[in-house]
Amino acid sequence: MGKGSGFGKVILFGEHFVVHGVPGIVSAIDSTNDAKVTRIGEKITIKDERKGAEGYAEKKKLQQLESIDRMLKAMGIEPETVSLSIWLGGNLPGFSGLGASAASSVAIAKAIAEEFGKDLSNEKINAIAYEAEKAYAGNPSGIDNTAATYGGLLWFKKNMSGGPNTIEKLSIQKPVEIIIGSTGIVANTKAMVKGVAERKKEKPQKYDLLFKQAEELAFMAKKALQEFDLRKVGELMNENHRLLQEIEVSCKELDHLINLARAQGVFGAKLTGGGGGGCMTALTPGKELQEKVAKAIEKEGFEVLRTKIGVEKL
Ligand code: MEV
Repeated sequence: MGKGSGFGKVILFGEHFVVHGVPGIVSAIDSTNDAKVTRIGEKITIKDERKGAEGYAEKKKLQQLESIDRMLKAMGIEPETVSLSIWLGGNLPGFSGLGASAASSVAIAKAIAEEFGKDLSNEKINAIAYEAEKAYAGNPSGIDNTAATYGGLLWFKKNMSGGPNTIEKLSIQKPVEIIIGSTGIVANTKAMVKGVAERKKEKPQKYDLLFKQAEELAFMAKKALQEFDLRKVGELMNENHRLLQEIEVSCKELDHLINLARAQGVFGAKLTGGGGGGCMTALTPGKELQEKVAKAIEKEGFEVLRTKIGVEKL
């Protein structure tokens, strides 16, 4: 039996913009998707025991099958020729926006590699998971699979000419508490990414300006994180959310949770991931603020994850 794990992630700056070459900032979180793979049974069977938003596993099923097909091909294995029994679990919930698709792809790729006796570098695993991500995101930037593979707090920029992406580890003074709130809505990242690309084409002037602002914001955010100016980081998160609203990837449920968090005194809040449902995140330094905000959101019936960004060992 082969085993593997992939980290969940929270995008702090730049989702969607990263697909088009704007830099983004992502942090792995201390939750993983874990996989076990055995070469038995007939064809490919998947037992998905991850807990998640209602309907998550069913809605992702077809994309999941396509992702495994792509992954096997990227590993030089013909999908029709193998029998694989795949188990998926772990403590990363299946909420859209937390990179569960990428985390599961990394976990499965590692487990398949182990089962087939292949010793693959992280770079290779990341490239395989990127192929798998295409099933979920259509035209992914690669930020999710990179965070799922390497962990840490990362500066990421997609190479638009197909060369190696820029991946830089960022260090901050100490880990900082955040909360992640789930709208409970299972979103289709592929459709969201496609929608942005279409609108960008239709309204080039408006979108060029917004993309320029997103780029400037990413550089300011990197500096603020490195200087540990958390008030500034929070302000920039709010500004990032405004840009995400402008490119029409937020929704009323996300805006509701973000406003709720802001009313509790968070440093900043924004949607995280593909939007259109899924999750929001808020910067809540200190256990006390984190708990206060988490409770306020839970009181309204939404699920909340309490975690930290910038944890060294991740
Ligand atoms: C999804 O977590 C992030 C997106 O930017 C897609 C991607 O970068 O592949 C929406």
